[in-house]
Amino acid sequence: MCLFAFLVAHSVPLISSRAKFQSALHAWYRVHARALPWREAPALYKTVVSEFMLQQTQVVTVLPYFARWLIELPNFTALAAASEAKVMKLWEGLGYYSRARNLHKLAQLYLARPTPPRTPVEWQELPGIGPYTAAAITSISFDEPAAVVDGNVVRILARLTAEDRLFRDGTAAVKHFTALADALILGAHPGTHNQAMMELGATVCLRQNPRCDICPVAKFCAAREAGTPEKFPRLQPKKIEQRAVTRLWCEQRGQLLLQRGHAKAKQLAGLYELPEATALGIVPTKKSLLLKKRRAITRFQITESIYRVKPTPAQLKRIAAEPALEWVAQDKLATLTLSGPHRRWIAELSEKHPIK
Ligand code: ADE
Repeated sequence: MCLFAFLVAHSVPLISSRAKFQSALHAWYRVHARALPWREAPALYKTVVSEFMLQQTQVVTVLPYFARWLIELPNFTALAAASEAKVMKLWEGLGYYSRARNLHKLAQLYLARPTPPRTPVEWQELPGIGPYTAAAITSISFDEPAAVVDGNVVRILARLTAEDRLFRDGTAAVKHFTALADALILGAHPGTHNQAMMELGATVCLRQNPRCDICPVAKFCAAREAGTPEKFPRLQPKKIEQRAVTRLWCEQRGQLLLQRGHAKAKQLAGLYELPEATALGIVPTKKSLLLKKRRAITRFQITESIYRVKPTPAQLKRIAAEPALEWVAQDKLATLTLSGPHRRWIAELSEKHPIK
């Protein structure tokens, strides 16, 4: 649908009251914005780091990581000069590790440029930056009128307009609402407007039990008027795929066997995990099961089963020949970067089954 038809079909009342909508939203934001560390004395570096950390991660999870990061790597120069190991260690447990590698590369590329990037298009040339992050950084740091559109903003806009089409997925919904988001930011202070939308999505226009009673823009909201805010946005349910992974708890002479993610693995490159049984061609017996955990990653529901294994001499040879497998001394474990769940499982297992 062309932009004009889209706006006529769904959003005219909202856009024609844009100035009033903005003024209600921004007045609320000025009073109710959470005091977040990247909002105090904002600086480009803090904005970039926080936006990377906040991709697919909640504010409460990010806060301690952000504080530690700024102490250790306070500016682009320090980040660019840091070792990859240091960067990954500071990110340990935050997940989606390609973000850390991209941020590291970004600092180096940023400093190598003759002039700093300013526009959303220029920022999107840097690693790890898509339309959302480019809009967030450039609106907050350079007053670029680029609207952020993510799941939270989609939810707000779908409710304001009571948009009842069924979207194939989140990406289709973001695409659909981008024109409206861009129309609503016009004439506003872009950084304030975007952060006010983020704040409304995070604290008021909640997925479940939205706080319409305290919403500053309730009077503009068609879904609220219809009494059915939770019905929007309408997204096709995700197909969940089940996966089973068999892992090994294999220790000898005070060392634990770990597997290092391949350098080309997008998320887990260089990160250590308990080895998968398939890496060694081992089929453990049922009675050697130590721990079973379920976790959800994107559309996968994964069941991880960890078995205790005592390798045969032939398997020990195979381990020695496999460069991704490493025997790690118990007292070295803390210095490596492990993915979050593996760090927790190893702590849990080594209590009951000391590495000796
Ligand atoms: N989510 C993404 N960017 C954010 C920001 N700057 N403040 C709060 N939540 C966010």
